[in-house]
Amino acid sequence: VYGLSRRARDEPCPGYRGRVLIAIDGPAGAGKSTVARAVAHALGCGYLDSGAMYRCVALLSLEQPDCAPAVLASAATITLSRSGDGWLVQLDGRDVTAAIRAPAVSAAASRLAADPGVREALVAKQRALIAHGDWVAEGRDIGTVVAPDADLKIYLTATPAERADRRARELGIDATGVLAAQDARDLRDSTRKHSPLTVAPDAIELDTSGLDVDAVVARIIALAQPPG
Ligand code: DC
Repeated sequence: VYGLSRRARDEPCPGYRGRVLIAIDGPAGAGKSTVARAVAHALGCGYLDSGAMYRCVALLSLEQPDCAPAVLASAATITLSRSGDGWLVQLDGRDVTAAIRAPAVSAAASRLAADPGVREALVAKQRALIAHGDWVAEGRDIGTVVAPDADLKIYLTATPAERADRRARELGIDATGVLAAQDARDLRDSTRKHSPLTVAPDAIELDTSGLDVDAVVARIIALAQPPG
């Protein structure tokens, strides 16, 4: 059921037996990025961080408040590439890897993500990117909107407290404020009119609370193996 039967297997990638698209969706702080990067690395697939795209548009719109966000979204050139052990995010040629993680950008990204024009422009960019080759794509709407034909859909969750703790540790700040901001984002992301965060009916839900990253990654890789 969870195998790779629904897509053509015409472009095998190193470390994997056929063409694959794995969608990993879920709320902020569920561990999507860490897990998606590790799965992509293990399978030799490309990695799409769709949240980074929303963050780039948010940064642009904070810098250019007079310009319509949807216009900024369609004009932006956003690239994500490997850089040593990490990932480099470039926006119109400049390195914005750190800038897009600022709390003000997180809040703006969550607001902008409700704009249908922004979503349309970014979904088009995401689909163009994953049209060729093998991908692990993470976000909120990959399995429901961007790639409803994904071979494997994972919905990663964790308790709100654990998610806030992880984010606070990452940013080196106190978890209380993180939890409040996270609650606000969760509510906005899951109640917005356009492409709200929902679990695709054919997604497999994995609760990562108390689980170690390696265990989650191993489980997803096992689910991605073709049956037999
Ligand atoms: O995953 P992240 O925290 O980097 O995402 C930033 C914001 O973008 C988040 O508030 C939700 C939004 N987003 C979205 O609406 N759809 C996606 N596919 C990815 C992110």
